[in-house]
Amino acid sequence: MSKGEGVYVWDVEGKKYYDFLSAYSAVNQGHCHPKIVNAMTQQAQTLSLTSRAFYNDVLGKYEKFASEYFNFDKLLPMNTGAEAVETALKICRKWAYEVKGIDENKAEIIVCENNFHGRTTTIISFSNDPVARKNFGPYTDGFIKIEYDNLKALEEALENNKNVAGFLVEPIQGEAGVYVPSEGYLTKAKALCETHNVLFIADEVQTGIARTGKLLAVDHENVKPDILILGKALSGGAYPVSAVLANDPIMKVIRPGNHGSTFGGNPIAAAVAIAALEVVRDEELATNAEVLGELFRSELDKFIETSSIATLVRGKGLLNAIVINDDEDSDTAWNICLALRDNGLLAKPTHGNIIRFAPPLVMTKDELLDCVSIIVKTLKQFEA
Ligand SMILES: Cc1ncc(COP(=O)(O)O)c(C=O)c1O
Repeated sequence: MSKGEGVYVWDVEGKKYYDFLSAYSAVNQGHCHPKIVNAMTQQAQTLSLTSRAFYNDVLGKYEKFASEYFNFDKLLPMNTGAEAVETALKICRKWAYEVKGIDENKAEIIVCENNFHGRTTTIISFSNDPVARKNFGPYTDGFIKIEYDNLKALEEALENNKNVAGFLVEPIQGEAGVYVPSEGYLTKAKALCETHNVLFIADEVQTGIARTGKLLAVDHENVKPDILILGKALSGGAYPVSAVLANDPIMKVIRPGNHGSTFGGNPIAAAVAIAALEVVRDEELATNAEVLGELFRSELDKFIETSSIATLVRGKGLLNAIVINDDEDSDTAWNICLALRDNGLLAKPTHGNIIRFAPPLVMTKDELLDCVSIIVKTLKQFEA
């Protein structure tokens, strides 16, 4: 690729494509959104980085703006999604020792099978994807893995382990193949966490910032996480910006010197994130994702009814996937993605026979219908 604008990217030969992956949901606001680019270039020409030992005039403004935007007391700025997850785990452990009263080094955090939270050593320690894990050991202790979307498993893990500090969960498992949990799962999981004085930590790095048709995916069930993790679209894909949000009783366990990053909350990141969040609000991207997502699934459902190549479409808002009727280790989904590319639309399998569809949220209805016809036309080429 050599150029991007809105929902489109161009390759080095000048061929134009719909981007149906959006840098794994980072480019929700569309490629090179002028408001975000403008905020970035202006700030880059003014002040790009200061030592975190000194104050700058953008970080505080951003922290106030984003804390109010997501309705939390405090925001801790980092750069990548994985760093924000690491930060949330550290805050959770510190809270466990200093507030909950768990004996030092004994805290455990419950995670879900088939999770994807990033690629640091600790995070891959609780992954069960051999490709992400193998030969990167020794691994970090302190995690209990349970089945996703299984409340009984969560309840048992909470009851059988007295040292649980937190439950880390993706509200929809994106990388695993866009698995949407049963209705009520998040609400009941949060309630179980409350009963056991355990922090509910939502990793919304992929699902957050309007992707699923609400500002946050937890908003579909009106769940307020104790710790919220954001990344990707927090900058609209313009810059690495991530964050952890929590209220004071939790966030205040972090004191000066405990945690940080040279680039975390730098003036460019702060200016870019304000602009990116303003775009989401001003252009009503959550509503657009919700409406277009319904349309996308209903149009594809019509095709799937009579199709032998696609078995189902699932998702929320504009985070969707179709399941291809072939073995998980077949290369059919991959070959379909190559044909989609030839037909002017870029997508990629998540795992095996599942293709994720996550276009920028600035798409129009006509563009979406054009994309549906490309997808249907391509799938038809693979019908038996
Ligand atoms: C749910 C989730 N958490 C964390 C991450 C890691 O983010 P990053 O690649 O910016 O480190 C990802 C990336 O895909 C993700 O989907």
